[in-house]
Amino acid sequence: MEIPRRLPSQLPLILYLFFIILHTNVATTDTIKVGDWKEILNDTLVQDLGMYAVLRYNNSTGSNLSFYAVFEAQAQTVAGLNFRLALQALDADFPRLYKAYVWEKPWENFKNLTSFEPVLG
Ligand SMILES: *[C@@H]1O[C@H](CO)[C@@H](O)[C@H](O)[C@H]1NC(C)=O
Ligand SMILES: *[C@@H]1O[C@H](CO)[C@@H](O)[C@H](O)[C@H]1NC(C)=O
Ligand SMILES: *[C@@H]1O[C@H](CO)[C@@H](O)[C@H](O)[C@H]1NC(C)=O
Ligand SMILES: *[C@@H]1O[C@H](CO)[C@@H](O)[C@H](O)[C@H]1NC(C)=O
Ligand SMILES: *[C@@H]1O[C@H](CO)[C@@H](O)[C@H](O)[C@H]1NC(C)=O
Repeated sequence: MEIPRRLPSQLPLILYLFFIILHTNVATTDTIKVGDWKEILNDTLVQDLGMYAVLRYNNSTGSNLSFYAVFEAQAQTVAGLNFRLALQALDADFPRLYKAYVWEKPWENFKNLTSFEPVLG
């Protein structure tokens, strides 16, 4: 007996597409080519991105988090690269988990923290 998996498995991708459209300044006339999320294997790059995310978050909110480590990182092609990070930072010495999105367009030397939120639970 075959279980039809194809349709439900595409649902998260569609939700992320909406997320990206809502959280970035992409003009509606732009053609957006969205790729699948892929694990990033370069740990130097991953930890650098995590440090960047916390630094930007601190600076834009006046917070004082201290970056600890990225646990999981994926990238998706979308008018550049969209990075999704699960990271740990210390909030007043208390370790907490956060989910961050960093959007990069290397040819324009553009990089932005588009989302940074604590992971509840
Ligand atoms: C890994 O990422 C670092 C930092 O971005 C970069 O300098 C290095 O060239 C990358 N290494 C590989 C093998 O791609
Ligand atoms: C922090 O923000 C200020 C203004 O909001 C800016 O001038 C400064 O360059 C920022 N520093 C970093 C490291 O992003
Ligand atoms: C902000 O984040 C960076 C990276 O973790 C850290 O070096 C810095 O001490 C933090 N705090 C402030 C106030 O910038
Ligand atoms: C920021 O956090 C670090 C380590 O958690 C602490 O040593 C420092 O005093 C804090 N700075 C501010 C301005 O709260
Ligand atoms: C960077 O992302 C933030 C959060 O989504 C947004 O408010 C800001 O306008 C963006 N900056 C640029 C230059 O796109």
